[in-house]
Amino acid sequence: MAALVSSTLPRGAIAAASLLACRRPPLPGSLWGRRFPAVSFPALQLHTASGAMRASQEDFERAKVQVKHLKEDPGNEVKLKLYALFKQATEGQCTSPKPGMLDFVNKAKWDAWNALGSLPKDTARQNYVDLVASLVSSQSLNQEKTSASDKKSEYENLVVTREGNITQILLNRPTKKNAINVKMYNEIMLALEAAGKDDSSLTVITGNGDYYSSGNDLTEFMSVQPNEIEKKIQDASVLLRKFVDHFIDFPKPLVAVVNGSAVGISVTLLALFDLVYATDKATFHTPFTELGQSPEACSSYTFPKIMGPVKAAEMLIFGRKLTAQEACARGLVTEVFPDSTFQKEVWTRLKAYSQLPPKTMMVSKQLIRSFEKETLHRINVEECAVLRERWVSEDCLNALVNFMNRKSKL
Ligand code: COA
Repeated sequence: MAALVSSTLPRGAIAAASLLACRRPPLPGSLWGRRFPAVSFPALQLHTASGAMRASQEDFERAKVQVKHLKEDPGNEVKLKLYALFKQATEGQCTSPKPGMLDFVNKAKWDAWNALGSLPKDTARQNYVDLVASLVSSQSLNQEKTSASDKKSEYENLVVTREGNITQILLNRPTKKNAINVKMYNEIMLALEAAGKDDSSLTVITGNGDYYSSGNDLTEFMSVQPNEIEKKIQDASVLLRKFVDHFIDFPKPLVAVVNGSAVGISVTLLALFDLVYATDKATFHTPFTELGQSPEACSSYTFPKIMGPVKAAEMLIFGRKLTAQEACARGLVTEVFPDSTFQKEVWTRLKAYSQLPPKTMMVSKQLIRSFEKETLHRINVEECAVLRERWVSEDCLNALVNFMNRKSKL
């Protein structure tokens, strides 16, 4: 019903109540025709306050114009309030017959107007002007906040942006193929926490450059002093557990836009996403054995479950690198797109999905994941314990030295 009101209340119905009488159809593509979740404004509480100074007709006319130029949809609740105050200010108490039960939109409007009872016309006019003023100032405050946050990113290795109902977390270490170092692990957790709480409906993770991510930053262990090793290993294990927990617990639909190849943890994590779109250029590689390491991000459980034990073993034990098509056939990737149209096709799809009712998407995501949550957390703990052992193994140290030597030979 909220969406119905939102999609049917024309912008002009608020600024010029006569539209209701004319029953003109909504303006196509108008601000008021767009669907937004309803928001409540503290300004709604102002309406009963009787203004010491009455708004003039001129103030009222100005407010009518301002309402047409609001940049953000204030939501159905506020739109109905504006409508009711406008009608009361211009026509006085509601005396028109109540619309039928099935005429949802007109009934909602009638209810809002009728609820104002015998509120005097000049008080309604004052309240209309006050409400518009509070909407204008709250929107300009939001815009100031947005432009201030545009100027300075709080992240060193990420760029977090918002477009419509989508929050995008861009992995931004392209010169290192988006390898994830300690700082970046922490930043991703912070960005996920913020995205989980913001009012977006989808969260997307993608990479800058030709790689989605080359996985864990292998150089980090190399700078550790011998007397620090034990502590570093312990810290790394705690960090990894917390990091993976953030994906297990993420409350909203989480989408991976795999723009290029993925290695290690950037592959294993994919099983904790709700949608995985990949370019046909991407490859998926988990060379754990080569590196003396073992599976993480719950992949020792999710991969066999998704693709069957023998296919999972081929990846997780034998390090078979998959093409995007193979990863899709194994159920790790939702869909593969030609690289030339990848961004366009994926973002068109995501923008459409992001218009779906956010709360319902969230409820369904949480339901789907709820049955396994405890298991996943248990597996995460277990995998981190095994990895702690692997990180001090000879196989792992040799692999790290080989990686560094390879670099120095290039
Ligand atoms: N950790 C740290 N640095 C990494 C990295 C990683 N996982 N992946 C790439 N880099 C760095 C490279 O060292 C190089 O840095 P430099 O320019 O300072 O030398 C830079 O990113 C570019 O990588 P390069 O190896 O030159 O590019 P490439 O196209 O030849 O190869 C990879 C790309 C990803 C195949 C290769 O870098 C690689 O194998 N990385 C390790 C991947 C890995 O094993 N991850 C861990 C899984 S558990």
